[in-house]
Amino acid sequence: MPLFELIRDAKHLVVFTGAGVSAESGIATFRDALTGLWERYDPAQLATAEAFRRDPALVWGWYESRRLQVLKAQPNPAHRAIAALARQVPELTLITQNVDDLHERAGSPEVIHLHGSLHHPRCFACNRPIALEPTSVAVNGPQEPPRCQGCNGRARPGVVWFGEALPERAIRTAMDAAKRCDCLLSIGTSGVVMPAALIPQVALEAGANVIHINMQPVECRADNEHSLIGAAGKLLPALCQQAFPA
Ligand code: OAD
Repeated sequence: MPLFELIRDAKHLVVFTGAGVSAESGIATFRDALTGLWERYDPAQLATAEAFRRDPALVWGWYESRRLQVLKAQPNPAHRAIAALARQVPELTLITQNVDDLHERAGSPEVIHLHGSLHHPRCFACNRPIALEPTSVAVNGPQEPPRCQGCNGRARPGVVWFGEALPERAIRTAMDAAKRCDCLLSIGTSGVVMPAALIPQVALEAGANVIHINMQPVECRADNEHSLIGAAGKLLPALCQQAFPA
């Protein structure tokens, strides 16, 4: 069966995205993010609670530079195709590992953020949400985090750091959708970071078709697993156009 038919006939489609879906918007993937001024740091030195305790200004500055990069970026054709799909299939669950808001800005109505968001910082001490200026001065290095209005604690990025648990409701809803869906599109993810990487596996084991879209070939181990090699911004709109011709 041609792959577009799997999408066309899906009753419940899960779309699972990783950094590759935002790459064509100019957002550096996590592993590419340490360029320029930040290249001498290891992600493991920046994306942990210990790193934040040790040097809050360094960690906050790095995430602010990423947030500002996202604010300047625009959703690309892959984000827009996913938003359109939500209007074309009976049920769609969008699960992302990305901490940007490009799915929302492309018009996706509901997005499950497994790894949190750059745009929703909270107090490191009391967890109260902390509002940020929509744009702030360019961040090119360490920056002292703003303070919580409640307890004067420091703001921390609203992302999941290494060693932290995923938001409980998000992972539960995501796993439930993976078990229930009949087709899952896994787009632009290296599939190595647990437990998110289990999601396509759970769908496969429940009998759903899984279609990987990636610049690199993805090894397929079952008849219901398929790999499309290429840029998400090109392949996905083409696939959707075949499934739902305008
Ligand atoms: P990765 O940076 O590990 O992988 C990105 C994937 O996208 C790779 O497999 C690329 O081949 C593919 N790719 C790149 N450009 C693409 C394009 N234009 N079209 C299609 N595919 C493309 O990103 P993730 O899998 O999202 O976690 O990484 C998962 C997690 O690892 C992140 O959420 C982050 C990181 O540690 C946390 O921060 C907790």
